[in-house]
Amino acid sequence: MAKKILLDCDPGLDDALALLLAHGDPDIELVGVTTVGGNVGLQRTTSNALALREYLHFESVPIAAGAGEPLVGDTREAAHVHGESGLGNAHLPEPTLPLDGRHAVDFIIDSLRASPGAIHLVATGPLTNIALALRQEPAIARLAASFTIMGGSFTRGNATPAAEFNIYADPEAASVVFAADWEVVMVGLDLTLQARATGPVVQRLATLGVLANELILPLATYWVDANDKNWDGQAVHDVCAVAHVARPDLFASRPARVEVEKRGALTSGMTVVDFDSAYPNASVPVALDVAGFWAYVEHVYGLVAAHHA
Ligand code: RIB
Ligand code: CA
Repeated sequence: MAKKILLDCDPGLDDALALLLAHGDPDIELVGVTTVGGNVGLQRTTSNALALREYLHFESVPIAAGAGEPLVGDTREAAHVHGESGLGNAHLPEPTLPLDGRHAVDFIIDSLRASPGAIHLVATGPLTNIALALRQEPAIARLAASFTIMGGSFTRGNATPAAEFNIYADPEAASVVFAADWEVVMVGLDLTLQARATGPVVQRLATLGVLANELILPLATYWVDANDKNWDGQAVHDVCAVAHVARPDLFASRPARVEVEKRGALTSGMTVVDFDSAYPNASVPVALDVAGFWAYVEHVYGLVAAHHA
């Protein structure tokens, strides 16, 4: 039986690669996509999701737009990483099909209420929509089959030395999410930086024809950190969150108590991870079967490529 996933995202280079995985894996049923402002503004993340839906032909999947600003504070974006469009060098045809008429928060609540215990909720952007949904209907914490985020870190950040971008962009929302009555699977930077599109990976992806040339490579090779002397490829952060739902066997995890720093002058958005807590609220993947991960991802991308027109 396919696992149902509702993906809340801010496409975004790696969000787009995560959408490709969720769409392409026959053991995943993508039941909905909701968008949030993050890497780039909400209008662009939403347009990118709509364009990806038509380019990859998952037109039956509803897409609902959500929050464009964080719960508190200023909007923080990452166009310097993802490009002004949010999709790097990938240039997709303009979307023609409409959004779902509901706000993302209502879409998430309606979807989880309609299928109690059946939908795996995954968030790969700032957690604003998820926090708003929890405030509107706290019961969703018990209605989701699981809840997985790409976000946080138990060592260093990427937006600041202390904070990972998705948490940094809306610390208040992240705090609400980690305080809710569910276990958060926190796929953080310590894990996702193990999932890099290295030279050999890119060479294998490049054999996937038109899909590789038009989408996968422009997304997976766009960002190079010029400050990283040991650079060995772009991390596909968000792909790891979807992969954890589909293939948890590829990950080793530890329970932890995660709290979010909201007021630190230097540490706002830091996830403070206590692996020794007697009151865990999260499961934190710490190790990845890297070869197994890429074998899985490349296999699914190959399935899509074989039918892509
Ligand atoms: O820190 C990486 C995360 O921030 C990813 O989700 C990426 O898409 C950006 O949103
Ligand atoms: Ca993202």
